Amino acid sequence: MGTKKKAVVIMAAGQGTRMKSKTTKLLHQVAGRPLIHYPIELGLALGAERIVLVLGHQRDAIEAYVESAFAGAPIESVIQAEQLGTAHAVLCAQPLLSDFDGDVVILSGDVPCLHENILTALDAAKRSAPVGLVTMRLNVPNRYGRLVRDDAGNANAIVEFADGNTQQRAIEELNSGIYQVDAQFLFSTLNTIGSDNAQGEFYLTDLVEIAAKQGSPAQVIYLDAEQSQWAVGVNNRVDLAAAEAQIQARLRTGLMLSGVTMIDPSRVYLEADVMVGADTTLGPDVYLKGSTMIGSGCTIEQGSYLIDTVIADGTTIRPYCHLERAQVGAQCILGPYARLREGTVLDATVKIGNFVETKKAHFGEGAKASHLSYVGDATVGAEANIGAGTITCNYDGYKKSKTVIGKGAFIGSDTQLVAPVSVGDGAVVGAGTTVTQDVPDDALVVSRTAQKHVDGWAARKREREANAKKDS
Ligand code: UD1
Ligand code: MG
Repeated sequence: MGTKKKAVVIMAAGQGTRMKSKTTKLLHQVAGRPLIHYPIELGLALGAERIVLVLGHQRDAIEAYVESAFAGAPIESVIQAEQLGTAHAVLCAQPLLSDFDGDVVILSGDVPCLHENILTALDAAKRSAPVGLVTMRLNVPNRYGRLVRDDAGNANAIVEFADGNTQQRAIEELNSGIYQVDAQFLFSTLNTIGSDNAQGEFYLTDLVEIAAKQGSPAQVIYLDAEQSQWAVGVNNRVDLAAAEAQIQARLRTGLMLSGVTMIDPSRVYLEADVMVGADTTLGPDVYLKGSTMIGSGCTIEQGSYLIDTVIADGTTIRPYCHLERAQVGAQCILGPYARLREGTVLDATVKIGNFVETKKAHFGEGAKASHLSYVGDATVGAEANIGAGTITCNYDGYKKSKTVIGKGAFIGSDTQLVAPVSVGDGAVVGAGTTVTQDVPDDALVVSRTAQKHVDGWAARKREREANAKKDS
């Protein structure tokens, strides 16, 4: 976009007192990402040569996040120890941008819904003017700065609510706090801005009046009511929820347009990195978090919760399953009520049924554990069948040990496999067995006591009891 080089300055030194939180506002999350993530991502999408964060409160925590999430990106930060106002904030970035020749896009750290399209429009509108500015309209104009225009419609000044008279406060065109400013104009002008105003702050917005006085008024894009919602900042938790709703709607729309069916979109929760293939259906109350990736032609039914999980094509997840860091092959059937924990790997066509918990378990193709089992630290061969109530006893109070179940093995119901132990290919474990030693291929193992019958015992007991009653 545009021809001039771009740097982005993100003002993010404020505390966000109205969040009523121990955590800085900028690390509160929307769609699983901290607020500060969004303007940085936008800056990178613009192809900015440099991104400068102006930090103050909890800067170490913010820097730590940025370093982990954007390793290698051209992001630097400066400290604004005291928050003396937005002009002062941008001035703090000057030392880092002293040799920068181009346009500086100025954003706030707490505006997560801002869309790249708005910045593209701003760039186009600004052209050769020193200042470009985004204004908006809101039903409740709050304390936003008001844009004062002259009779010809040129931008004359921004008047802060605190400084405005009744007439100025009635102006409906509000300053969104999103700017694009020629770097030379910006840094030669910022030094001249004073703090002689109602709040005793250094106002960045004074740039607009200065540009007008120099005869090259700021170029403005005035957002319609819908787009204005994208430019609104987060100040409290009500705003945070509104931003979440907006980002969720955007993520859901993106998936639906790419071929995903949602039975009730308003009840699907997505995080920003989640991917879902075409012809997959998501039921109500499905949560997809982290780096979850779902293939095509899958069905994820009501109430399932997936974190950092990969699902191959054509798999069905029935209601109320919980999957975390699992890898599920094609055409599997899970649940209802299955729990797949970290390190679970299922090959194709595996079936994991209700109330089965798995952890660090690899199931070969076509293996089944249909009911009420715990399979942890285990390898289950292809086509093996795990009966109801099977438990891998993987923990002896000191260490975890492995269970290996061979291909096509049959584990009878109510079996305990005391690890470390193995069951050979094609072996059969009788119901109710406690397996403590390795079972050879194709063997039968039964460890329960032999069944005895005592003929007529029950009838004799009833007769004795009946006689005792008669005598009493
Ligand atoms: C500012 C604008 C106002 C506009 C509004 C949009 C000025 C003087 N006013 O209001 O016209 O309608 O934004 O949101 O610029 N920050 C710092 N250091 C500071 C002060 C602020 O980093 O010294 C950061 C804040 O953390 C925040 C952003 O700048 O991310 C905006 O600050 P805020 O106090 O919310 O806005 P106002 O100055 O009230
Ligand atoms: Mg302020």
